[in-house]
Amino acid sequence: MTPQEIALKTSTRRCFAIISHPDAGKTTITEKLLLFGKLIQSAGSVKGKRNEKHATSDWMAMEQQRGISVTSSVMQFPYNDATVNLLDTPGHEDFSEDTYRVLTAVDSALMVVDGAKGVEDRTIKLMEVCRLRDTPIFTFVNKLDRDTREPIEVLDEIETVLNIRCAPINWPLGNGKGFKGVYNLYTDTIHVYHHGQGTRIPDDVQIQGLRSAEAKALLGAYADDFADEIELVRGASNEFDLGEYLAGRMTPVFFGTALGNFGVREMLNDFVKWAPQPRARETESRTVTPKEAPFSAFVFKIQANMDPNHRDRIAFLRICSGAYSKGMKLHHCRLGKEVRISDAVTFMAGEREQAENAVSGDIIGFHNHGTIQIGDTFTEGESLQFTGIPHFAPELFRRIRLKDPLKTKQLQKGLKQLSEEGSVQVFMPQRNNDLIVGAVGVLQFEVVAYRLKDEYKVDCIYEPVNIYSARWVECDDAKKFEEFKKKAYENLAVDGGDHLTYLPPTRVNLALMEERWPDVRFRATREHR
Ligand code: G4P
Repeated sequence: MTPQEIALKTSTRRCFAIISHPDAGKTTITEKLLLFGKLIQSAGSVKGKRNEKHATSDWMAMEQQRGISVTSSVMQFPYNDATVNLLDTPGHEDFSEDTYRVLTAVDSALMVVDGAKGVEDRTIKLMEVCRLRDTPIFTFVNKLDRDTREPIEVLDEIETVLNIRCAPINWPLGNGKGFKGVYNLYTDTIHVYHHGQGTRIPDDVQIQGLRSAEAKALLGAYADDFADEIELVRGASNEFDLGEYLAGRMTPVFFGTALGNFGVREMLNDFVKWAPQPRARETESRTVTPKEAPFSAFVFKIQANMDPNHRDRIAFLRICSGAYSKGMKLHHCRLGKEVRISDAVTFMAGEREQAENAVSGDIIGFHNHGTIQIGDTFTEGESLQFTGIPHFAPELFRRIRLKDPLKTKQLQKGLKQLSEEGSVQVFMPQRNNDLIVGAVGVLQFEVVAYRLKDEYKVDCIYEPVNIYSARWVECDDAKKFEEFKKKAYENLAVDGGDHLTYLPPTRVNLALMEERWPDVRFRATREHR
């Protein structure tokens, strides 16, 4: 491809992920987006969701289904003039560090909020991660076909809890049984809701003007109340500002029902217009801009054993500049080695296909035989290391014990590799020979135990351990740091990358230590290196 072609293609890319609390409607809205993207013909048929919700112990069954879940982990579809790349963030029990790291690979996010429940825990956590890079956020308030809270109350909650200004783009006309549609505050148009069009692309019935005769006919006795409400909303809410949105300080808000496939199209239309093109990315040495010709990409996720018949691991790379073409020679920066990649995969139309030409904002997959790690950078020759692909402090901890003590070596090797892959984090306390594993989602433990047995032939069990969190510690003052290390000895450990980590037993202990040692930095994230 010529540099002009690369630049042109790159400008069409919209790479994003959906953040939400389980059950807010992420799967349902994803399905509707795929419907608009023509990746599927009718919604409601892709997943028997009810059956698919798995308990953590269903890992074996999940393993068998993995082919499906993996191909859906990156979905590319065309919409209007854009090419949309939607990255799945595992949502339910399979919540893991991958979920966080996917957010480092996207240029923007769509937040789905349940209109009745408002802002929930998982959303708060995911927003914290988005904050690290000031990721621009679209908001979809869902389930307006049910009784919801007052829309203004939901916006207030988003503003105060998530600390981001809301700019409603449309406003719901009623909710639950009385849901009539949404009114676009900028185009003065009512989009009329018709029940029962959720499985297809619905008709877009529009009424121009809130005080028109047709509007009165639709809204009946409530027409004047709605008109008054909209006046109030206009007065009280923020006007949408593209710059503020792109800076991550303001979110445009859309109302609708994902199940009824209503409001999704309006949101998607504005999304492809406003959501950022691939953005510049920082490396340790310089800023890489998406339209520069030489190829560069980083690994944000490694998924193992996608095909149980092969030892098939796929490293997912986010392209940051240039273009990938089949068979090209690449520089694996961490190893300082040249590799030829002839069989990269892309994720079009739910199928893994050979990647022909992928550009910045696209995701490609490399087959990995154990040499690729999370955070690795690939280029056409330049030695670069992308930053901002962090480890996140785990929130759950277990002590891992072998059933057969003679297998210590295998266990250590297995844990080392799994931690390099990002499946789990490992900590070795200074005061004893324990091995502690840390995760952000409970399923990670199960996956690790299963893979240790399957791939490394070690049987292990977990025991509870009294650790509240992990903080990577640093200090510029060597003398103070030595003092700190002596005092904190009982709770210090090294992680899989030999970084010193403080493992506080309680939240209070952590707060006290931070207060007592102002010169020591207690970091909740650590860069991959
Ligand atoms: P998730 O991926 O965020 O976890 O949510 P998902 O799309 O699976 O939606 C969770 C439940 O909410 C589903 O019900 C789904 O049909 C329903 N839902 C999603 N969007 C809407 C909406 O706009 N209106 C209404 N009324 N319901 C919606 P389910 O499969 O029956 O599961 P469950 O209710 O037993 O959890």
